[in-house]
Amino acid sequence: MNRETISFTFEVYDSVEELSAEDAWLLQEARKVTNQAYAPYSQFNVGAIARLTNGETVTGTNQENASYPVGLCAERVLLSAASSIYPNVPIETMAISYHNTKGESDRPVTPCGICRQTLAEYQLRLNHPIRLILSGLEGKIYIIPQSNMLLPLGFNSSDLQ
Ligand code: THU
Repeated sequence: MNRETISFTFEVYDSVEELSAEDAWLLQEARKVTNQAYAPYSQFNVGAIARLTNGETVTGTNQENASYPVGLCAERVLLSAASSIYPNVPIETMAISYHNTKGESDRPVTPCGICRQTLAEYQLRLNHPIRLILSGLEGKIYIIPQSNMLLPLGFNSSDLQ
């Protein structure tokens, strides 16, 4: 029997002032775009923005539904839009923020399991890591070098061969 360990390193910042100008801009835009979420049921408004390798940006917000399971997370709305508008352009960095109108918005939240799987497909398909900037409207900021780090031992297309 062997034991294996998987670990990863990510960066933690105390405020936006510590970020590069580009990362700070992306995070501030993600914070702003939370205002465009449609989240009347959870009141948890998520905003995401991605910088693509061609320099363009694409945004996404969560879109809920009276039939709760129909709702979509901001990350997957963004990835669907990016894939539709710029089908073969990799994503360099995605910033994700949220505004919880029922509680605090002062700590980073990480993408849900389905979004991690969707991010993994995107990374693999375009053969480019997706860097994540995660933060609420205030408080600490996490920078994850690539989204796959959040999905160790993930299932992907190579498993279907
Ligand atoms: N949500 C996202 O949009 N992204 C995440 O990473 C976590 C959760 C949405 C789904 C739902 O509309 C609301 O937040 C509460 O779960």
